[in-house]
Amino acid sequence: MQIVLAPMEGVVDHLMREMLTQIGGYDLCITEFVRVVDQKLPARVFTRLCPELLQGGKTRAGTPVRVQLLGQEPHWLAENAARAVELGSPGVDLNFGCPAKAVNKSRGGAVLLKETNTLYHIVKAVRDAVPAQFPVSAKIRLGYDDTSLAIANAQAIAEAGASSLAIHARTKSDGYRPPAYWPWIAKIKQQVKIPLIANGEIWNAEHALLCQQQSACSDIMLGRGALAMPNLAQHIRNHAAPLPWPEVLTLLMQYSEFEIAGDKGKYYANRVKQWFSYLKLQYPEAQQLFSQLRLLTKSQDILNLLEQQRCIK
Ligand SMILES: Cc1cc2nc3c(=O)[nH]c(=O)nc-3n(C[C@H](O)[C@H](O)[C@H](O)COP(=O)(O)O)c2cc1C
Repeated sequence: MQIVLAPMEGVVDHLMREMLTQIGGYDLCITEFVRVVDQKLPARVFTRLCPELLQGGKTRAGTPVRVQLLGQEPHWLAENAARAVELGSPGVDLNFGCPAKAVNKSRGGAVLLKETNTLYHIVKAVRDAVPAQFPVSAKIRLGYDDTSLAIANAQAIAEAGASSLAIHARTKSDGYRPPAYWPWIAKIKQQVKIPLIANGEIWNAEHALLCQQQSACSDIMLGRGALAMPNLAQHIRNHAAPLPWPEVLTLLMQYSEFEIAGDKGKYYANRVKQWFSYLKLQYPEAQQLFSQLRLLTKSQDILNLLEQQRCIK
């Protein structure tokens, strides 16, 4: 079984990858997406989203971090994929699942699931541009409005030479609403010969097992669940109990160490609140704390509150 930490724009940044892979159980991380339109992007765009490029394309715990690209132009995606690999990314991932209106309007993300040929041309161009020893993976949903192209899209991506395919088992129209349709992945698997990675609605070890059984995939990708339970990968692999709340508090404080160019002091406050929206699902303590924390905008005030909680415990 391989466990992949899902890309999550606005939540899973390099410090989150650092902390979660330190806890362990992950074989691979995918970055937040780099938006590619009509140019070869400068190195700093890649290193900002993926500072791990400066340390061999791995987190300090040694987990590889693959850069994800989102775009619609095969040529520009290929150019930027080659650049990502030159800069040290151990492969490239292509995002065909993003539901954001602004992205879909400019023909990026999930809207491409309506264009099977475009998927093929993008993956082919990127595969041709990236040296063969580096994986080129893709991530899709089951479709845009419906699942009618799910198999054709997966086949096109496989035929174009993708090394593996992660499938978020919902359409764009399904958004993030449960359930995830894991049996659909098994259906696709019968028609596609590349390795598939099952994704969607895995919040605990029981879900992981059910997902593996219903999708017929041993490899899984963890998204929101990885934030709700910071040791979810270890919980799935080794039946570890959920990380105790005081240790989660320590991680929340550690998260303030993130330094980002251009941050006007809002980065930590915004991101920690996003993280809380997932922690609340697992920890009653997070639910209580969030009602106080949500009103705070300064990092130091949030840190003081967390420190107080740590002393109470
Ligand atoms: C806030 C948020 C940001 C996301 N950003 C990305 C992204 O940048 N690239 C991507 O391929 N998927 C992205 N996703 C989708 C997740 O990787 C994953 O496929 C989805 O959340 C389903 O898995 P889950 O049910 O385990 O959360 C994002 C999801 C969320 C909730």
